[in-house]
Amino acid sequence: MYPPPAIRFRDTARMAPQRPTLDPTSEPPQARVARAEFMRRFGRPPSSIAFAPGRVNLIGEHVDYAGGFVLPIAIERGTAVAVGPTPSGRDSRIISLDQGEVSIDPLLAPLPLTAPAERWANYPLGVLALLREEGIAPPPLDLVAATDLPIGGGLSSSAAITVATAVAALGSMGPHADHLDRRRLARLARRVEHRFAGVPCGLMDPAIVSLAREGHALLLDCRVDLDEDSFRHVPLPEELAVLILDSGVRHRLDEGGYASRQQAVREAAAILGVPTLRELLDAEGGDLGVARARLDSAPLDALVRRRARHVLSEIDRVRRAAAILDALSESRSADVPFATHRLAALGRILVEGHASLRDDFGVSTPELDLLVEASMDAGALGARLTGAGFGGCVVVLAEPQKVASIADHASRRLAAALGRSPGTPCLACTTLPSRGARLVASG
Ligand code: GLA
Repeated sequence: MYPPPAIRFRDTARMAPQRPTLDPTSEPPQARVARAEFMRRFGRPPSSIAFAPGRVNLIGEHVDYAGGFVLPIAIERGTAVAVGPTPSGRDSRIISLDQGEVSIDPLLAPLPLTAPAERWANYPLGVLALLREEGIAPPPLDLVAATDLPIGGGLSSSAAITVATAVAALGSMGPHADHLDRRRLARLARRVEHRFAGVPCGLMDPAIVSLAREGHALLLDCRVDLDEDSFRHVPLPEELAVLILDSGVRHRLDEGGYASRQQAVREAAAILGVPTLRELLDAEGGDLGVARARLDSAPLDALVRRRARHVLSEIDRVRRAAAILDALSESRSADVPFATHRLAALGRILVEGHASLRDDFGVSTPELDLLVEASMDAGALGARLTGAGFGGCVVVLAEPQKVASIADHASRRLAAALGRSPGTPCLACTTLPSRGARLVASG
């Protein structure tokens, strides 16, 4: 092929502003649904609407709470939240089109963690409670949330509703109610998970949902608590298509598997005498072989050792993946063989990551394994489970022209394995790396 096509990168000019300011030009379909439903239920327009994306993590799983690096992108799917002041003397009505409705005195604390059926409402209620604690007091609000993310599907539906609620609530105080910059927003969203949802999650999901930049992945160093130097936006080449395949298996991260993995990782660090496993790697100058040798000779339970082995190798994989993307972005020339070779190496890193999550970390499922295997058989560059695991989705990297046949092949294989009719594909969608949370209507 001559002349060879240059390696292209997606638009890098549209930088995310420091604060989620008003951008009515980017109203996604979910925002239209939330607005219409708010009008229908309350008979008045909302005072503001915000949108926050879901995410897929390209690599760096179960390392955010071990001080490691992660490399997620925001996706086009997400959650819109429409809010408006509650008429005085009435309870606030908190409505999710997928999960139901809760009426509550707006000044009460969120629901106790023992109210499982309504627990989803603690995400928006927790945000409003924490905003009050921060001294930012939006008026009591009615709220409607509309999403096209699968709930419990590993695409960060909880960070999306949390961050969208915060941005909408701030927007209800006027389009210039920019009390929270994006980093504070992300930290607030994580506190909501910890305190009001009972999930001891790391920083990855709220950070990408708040900070994402169009066309880029976010390289986030989770050792520090989101300071200015702890993240950077890494451009993704257009030649790399991102496909999401949903296994249909739903997870709940408050059920113990997630917390027990964290516990094992903490135990390994404590026995090795380091604050986090990331520091074990740093102490050895980033040399994975030496860090692994220290791990192998430490007096650890066999299962704990395997969990820790995943964390060390995964942090190394993120570093290698980011180095590949940096090299590609630096050589924006027409060096196609170089790009092809590098993208293949990136894909292999994903496959290694999946094997490690399956064998060492024990968070895959037969459905996820099958989707990864089928995607690779159909010519993907790489594939792996994304998010916490225990169900949810697979992220596939592929050349754009192969995406349709990979999605078709993988979903047919899954349908056959589950005994579903061959015409029942799993949810498959491609996504561009998208922007973080934003206010789409105010006033
Ligand atoms: C969930 C958590 C994240 C992270 C991932 C696993 O998505 O919310 O903090 O730990 O699992 O990488």
